[in-house]
Amino acid sequence: MIPTSDFLTKKRTGGRHTPEEICSFIKAYVSGEVADYQMSAWLMAVCINGLDPDETVALTEAMIASGETIDLSTLPGITIDKHSTGGVGDKTTLVLGPLLASAGLTMAKMSGRGLGITGGTLDKLESIPGFSTQLTKEQFLAQAASIGCVLAGHTGNLVPADKKIYALRDVTATVECISLIASSVMSKKIACGASTILLDVKAGSGAFMKDIESARKLARTMIEIGNMMGRKTIAAITGMEQPLGLAVGNSIEVAESIETLRGGGPSDLHELCIELGALLLEVTGLSESHAAAKERLEGLIASGAALEKFREVISAQGGDTRVLDDPALLPQVAYSRPILAGSSGFIQSVNAYAIGRAAGMLGAGRQRKEDTIDPSSGVVLKKKAGDSVEVGEEVAVLLYNNAACVESAAEAVSSACKIGPDTPAVSPLVLETLGF
Ligand code: URA
Repeated sequence: MIPTSDFLTKKRTGGRHTPEEICSFIKAYVSGEVADYQMSAWLMAVCINGLDPDETVALTEAMIASGETIDLSTLPGITIDKHSTGGVGDKTTLVLGPLLASAGLTMAKMSGRGLGITGGTLDKLESIPGFSTQLTKEQFLAQAASIGCVLAGHTGNLVPADKKIYALRDVTATVECISLIASSVMSKKIACGASTILLDVKAGSGAFMKDIESARKLARTMIEIGNMMGRKTIAAITGMEQPLGLAVGNSIEVAESIETLRGGGPSDLHELCIELGALLLEVTGLSESHAAAKERLEGLIASGAALEKFREVISAQGGDTRVLDDPALLPQVAYSRPILAGSSGFIQSVNAYAIGRAAGMLGAGRQRKEDTIDPSSGVVLKKKAGDSVEVGEEVAVLLYNNAACVESAAEAVSSACKIGPDTPAVSPLVLETLGF
């Protein structure tokens, strides 16, 4: 191993690391030989001078090697995983997991909790009474083999280097760096073992990547890492100017996912799930064209097969399957407050980030890891961009149990929904696909 100060100087002065240097540095950081302040200095140098593709792959490999990995190669069928770079109201995993399992793919997915705005997939699932996301590796693999879908938290010690480095990036202004984001995401995806990975890279006001160029760059970097590491990796760049669907919270997002699996639900959520699902059916060779794949998925929703698959998942993970027939059995709030339009016209935009923040203020998210989430609170939109609206009509409803932040949340939602006289141009949901 080269001395740490030489390693740091190399990146600070724009040099290129060898894979061995990166591997030793990450190992030394996880074992405590390299201090947080040294790692912070390197992360900042990487943010300024970047990592080339070989360095990025070396970092991803070193992070994977820091912990356990899951071997899904013994499972029947083709194993798939999907990752969304994070969006407001994004509940696609809850729909896509059962839907694709009912089509014959195996989604053995480990998800995270939300930090920042709203809850993550685990928080949403845990709002189903009794649902357990803490499975042993054996339970995780057995359920994937028998049902074709398992949605759980990380089993074992996966990618501990990322956990440690991410915590540091969070407080040293080094999150927004494409090589670091790509290696962080892909190390976890690859450690989770699926042979095919779909990346849903969000672009827009509610996403990490605010514009399509940076979303494209992130998608390309992640595809390159995945393919270099032997995983078929594809990506869709999808819009996140406004929240996905109408519900932003936890139990209300589960209810909306159930509705979508029943064939109803908001049209944008339905469309995105069908589009993303079709990409996976196509790339795995289960359908011969995108159109055939979409038709197949629509059929699985219409026949009730996708919803029945979700019933099997909920039952296997100890949840109350009655929520599928009666979503009122999901946690409900004590109070609600409508947000009314201040003028007539058309909704020009609904700022995703602001709606996410408002849901967080009402209790649907956590600011610190140790915070607890209120599973029933959140925001339900009544209008989306392009809809017409009359003065005094409801544009959204706040759902809450604790009124402490309701005034600020109401203000945030009111100003997030912009009304104007003309019909706005609404951009398509899927902006681009890459990696085919
Ligand atoms: N999500 C991750 O897992 N890692 C990042 O670096 C950013 C978002």
